[in-house]
Amino acid sequence: MTSSRTSQPDTRRVVPVRSDVPQLDAFAARVRALIGAGLDERALTRAIQQELTRVLAAGFELPGEKTRPDPDRYVMYPLHVEGDGSFSIASAVWNVGQGTPVHGHETWGVVGIYRGVEVETRFEKPAVPDVPLVPEGTDEWTQGQVTVCCTTDDDVHQVRCGGDEPVIGIHVYGADIGTLPRRSYDSETGAVHWFTSEWAA
Ligand SMILES: [Fe+2]
Repeated sequence: MTSSRTSQPDTRRVVPVRSDVPQLDAFAARVRALIGAGLDERALTRAIQQELTRVLAAGFELPGEKTRPDPDRYVMYPLHVEGDGSFSIASAVWNVGQGTPVHGHETWGVVGIYRGVEVETRFEKPAVPDVPLVPEGTDEWTQGQVTVCCTTDDDVHQVRCGGDEPVIGIHVYGADIGTLPRRSYDSETGAVHWFTSEWAA
């Protein structure tokens, strides 16, 4: 599922995906329009945060195959992948007890909770290599809450399932996140490991 890299990022071919959930297809169209408006990352992520908050509050039904936890690791199912790779929308599923390493995204991101509880610890993005990471705080996000998880210059965090049921998030990223090489960090040493969180089938 997850591949390892030791060199700099590359770009792989984007395979477009379109959701058959009408509310998500309409949301993708609004994200496309906002990106087309040429906003900077902070204005763009705030606008997408507002849109995703509305979509979650209005309610929609994710198909069962997009909410299925994997017993071995967290999974990201593609709900929408824009053909030019400019954004993607994922259903991210953490089973009870599962979490991520400390990681970055190399792009902007907005995360809304569809079901369950997510615990997020944020870190300062290291300005220099191989120094311990500085934690910035921990939050719990619950159903219907939406957070701007990342901008390119502030994108380092660790996420885990916080409840006694799997947590399912709707994640929006400014790239095809299933093919984007990005960094994970050893928080004690600052050591970097490049990885790609590939799309689950
Ligand atoms: Fe993340």
